[in-house]
Amino acid sequence: MTIRKDFLWGGATSANQYEGGYNEDGRGISSMDVVPSGKNRSDIIRGNISDFSIGEDLYYPTHKAVDFYHHYEEDIALFAEMGFKAYRLSISWTRIFPNGDEETPNEAGLKFYENVFKECKKYNIQPIVTISHFDVPLYLVEKIGSWKNREMIDYYLKLCKVLFERYKDYVEYWLPFNEINMILHAPFMAAGLTFKGGDNEEQIKYQAAHHELIASSLATKMAKEINPDNKIGSMFAAGSAYPYSCNPKDVWEALKVDQENYFFVDIQSRGKYPNYALKEFKRKGIDLVMHDEDKQLLSEYPVDFISFSYYNSRCIASKDSDAKLTDGNLFATAKNPYLEASEWGWPIDPLGLRITLNEVYDRYQKPMIIVENGLGAIDTINEDGQIKDDYRIQYLSDHIKAIKSAIEEDGVDLFGYTAWAACDIVSASSGEMKKRYGFIYVDADDKESFTRLKKDSFYWYKKVIQSNGDIL
Ligand code: BG6
Repeated sequence: MTIRKDFLWGGATSANQYEGGYNEDGRGISSMDVVPSGKNRSDIIRGNISDFSIGEDLYYPTHKAVDFYHHYEEDIALFAEMGFKAYRLSISWTRIFPNGDEETPNEAGLKFYENVFKECKKYNIQPIVTISHFDVPLYLVEKIGSWKNREMIDYYLKLCKVLFERYKDYVEYWLPFNEINMILHAPFMAAGLTFKGGDNEEQIKYQAAHHELIASSLATKMAKEINPDNKIGSMFAAGSAYPYSCNPKDVWEALKVDQENYFFVDIQSRGKYPNYALKEFKRKGIDLVMHDEDKQLLSEYPVDFISFSYYNSRCIASKDSDAKLTDGNLFATAKNPYLEASEWGWPIDPLGLRITLNEVYDRYQKPMIIVENGLGAIDTINEDGQIKDDYRIQYLSDHIKAIKSAIEEDGVDLFGYTAWAACDIVSASSGEMKKRYGFIYVDADDKESFTRLKKDSFYWYKKVIQSNGDIL
């Protein structure tokens, strides 16, 4: 097995981190629009928020982001220049339904994405569309509690119907939710969930997750009815859990972390709640309200393929261990003494990607695509106007080598790779602009000219794509 000829090389972004234009052309306010950067951000994205007003002296990264809204033609031309075969983007729900409960969609919002998809088509770039990437209408958060409430499924399906019908000629790959497991770790950011004192947070999170899982099945059903060529994928934040030591207690804890992570995909792909979760719910007193038809819906409409983000592996220690903690993609885990870390403390583990690919493929036996992988780093422009991001090239090159081994030596069925990020975007967890991920630098920090500049990694990735992964 080698990398297939039609491998979907590309890059990814999300609307809330990339688009800006937050109040233009009828767009409504979305959950992340009320989350400022700064010290409270980490609490807010975890659900500790009751005041949804926009403060005058605070900086809200989604409002301007890096202004894709006014630069989409330029950016997509740059993606085409790199040779992208695919571009993963997300829809800003409130551009289409400003409050979420309107009878008819906002034509200006629909037109914007139509223009984006037309540009992609012009260059033969396949869009991969995340329907909800850290994005729900704020109105629905305030009115019904977002995904806590089963009514949310209807509002979400209304959005899906409009998208599937309107973009039938442009889009075939759909991801109902970004990092669906992130609802456990950053519930406001992931799903618009908020908590007050005395709440049983786990009960709320898993009930909301159940609603999302039903929405995912119903969206799959609808997508196929509207266009039988549509393909629906699960998307979760991956990264295998390593035991900190061979102490069986560490091994056991690592297994539990993997189960917590795979829980969502187990349901989306195998079509039923796994036994380990049902037992755990019982022990914890989590009692989910389900409708009679739910079990059947989950089993009848599983996903077609599996997608995931991978930034790092996780290292898990039992309570009695002396392990130190470190940061990761919203998971604080034990510090793995064998791994270097990024400037933000995220471990760097290319072999971990090969391990994860093998584990996920063994578990689900479905085609897979990596839809996020990359390095957040501080980039500087030198006197000659160049951006020498050799650290990013190294990171990506090592990870793509691991992918090649997983395909060529282990036989995993991988049909694409969209790096995070196609272009600089603002960081989701920290809201910082200086944590840059893209192949394209955007002047959005100080002067805010939004000028685009090609980094060294831009030219490097172009060669990777041209050679179908031979030149790394
Ligand atoms: C993933 C998200 O969790 O990680 C992205 O899907 C996010 O939206 C990416 O940007 C990197 O995380 P961060 O917090 O560094 O932006």
